[in-house]
Amino acid sequence: MRATVFQFVTAALFAALTNAQTYTNCNPMLKTCPPDPALSGIYQHTYGGEAPNFKYLTSQASVKYGGKDGAVFRIAKPKDAPTIISSFYIMWGRYEVVLKPAPGAGIVSSIVLQSDDLDEIDWEWLGGKTAEAQSNYFGKGNTATYDRGAVHPVDSQARFHKYAIDWTAEKIDWLIDDVVVRTLTPNQVKGDFYPQTPMTARIGSWAGGDPDNEQGVINWSGGPTDFTKGPFDMVVQSIYVRDYSTGKEYTYSDKSGSSSSIKSNGGSIMGGGTNPGTPNLSSSSSSSSSSSSSAPSSGSSGSTSFTFNAPSNSGRIASATSKNHPKITLAVLAAIFIAIFIAISFH
Ligand SMILES: *[C@@H]1O[C@H](CO)[C@@H](O)[C@H](O)[C@H]1NC(C)=O
Ligand SMILES: *[C@@H]1O[C@H](CO)[C@@H](O)[C@H](O)[C@H]1NC(C)=O
Repeated sequence: MRATVFQFVTAALFAALTNAQTYTNCNPMLKTCPPDPALSGIYQHTYGGEAPNFKYLTSQASVKYGGKDGAVFRIAKPKDAPTIISSFYIMWGRYEVVLKPAPGAGIVSSIVLQSDDLDEIDWEWLGGKTAEAQSNYFGKGNTATYDRGAVHPVDSQARFHKYAIDWTAEKIDWLIDDVVVRTLTPNQVKGDFYPQTPMTARIGSWAGGDPDNEQGVINWSGGPTDFTKGPFDMVVQSIYVRDYSTGKEYTYSDKSGSSSSIKSNGGSIMGGGTNPGTPNLSSSSSSSSSSSSSAPSSGSSGSTSFTFNAPSNSGRIASATSKNHPKITLAVLAAIFIAIFIAISFH
């Protein structure tokens, strides 16, 4: 009995450690973290091969290269969550991706700017909703209110479009094919939750409709996902990232999570300026998106506010299994304490 209990404790500890590794990010509001390497300029990649300066957060095998349209982010089975993340950060800037999201009920495609203290700006597409895109944001990981998301009409699965986020201290613009479809200003945000800390750029997809997920997530994603109907491919044509600040790296000078605490080492915040000229995103891909004949209506009238429970991507595409890790961790910790208690009782 004791051997069994101790094996269980060991297994539980191992599970806890393995699990913890999916949360590698150091949260600068909780402790002192390494500096964030700065992009400090423009990054541009048109897919043929792998995107340099992006790392895989999950299985490399689920991103396929060499297709005629671009890189394929494939969900073929439960727990597939192909995701890449930039190894650089931007402090205010612009992020553009030309893509076609994955089809499939419950499949979530996304492009995300995300900081170490969980500020987040999203574009998301639900595979079951072929005529829309969703914009969303989070500040400091706060998920207490669900009035941040908006829906924007676009024939997202019929053709490639260029989706962009333009992010400054004054406002965040979400754009489709260079048309602003939503603007968020800090004074529209309740509390201190306007995204304002150095961001990585991410691209990923995951199965919100995985039957293992919480019912609320499955509902939001339009699931459940029927994996026999897969594989579900998101196709990414090109990436453009511009850092409005300059320098070698960005640091948090205190634990406030405030933009005023962010310092540049070797450059200056907003030193690069906001005027990106005309980014030639598709310069090396003639067959690309520019068919903006069906560009969505501009202005905030092109979007619809909604108040559903849209989960933050951070706890999702950041993990290989798309599971709710905090709950798992608590469960595992509880199991360890119970196991130790049993072990002591039997001693
Ligand atoms: C999910 O949707 C079903 C059907 O509309 C509903 O009955 C259920 O309450 C929802 N569950 C959650 C957690 O949102
Ligand atoms: C536009 O493309 C040209 C060559 O095709 C390149 O030299 C230039 O850097 C690109 N501009 C931007 C803003 O990336």
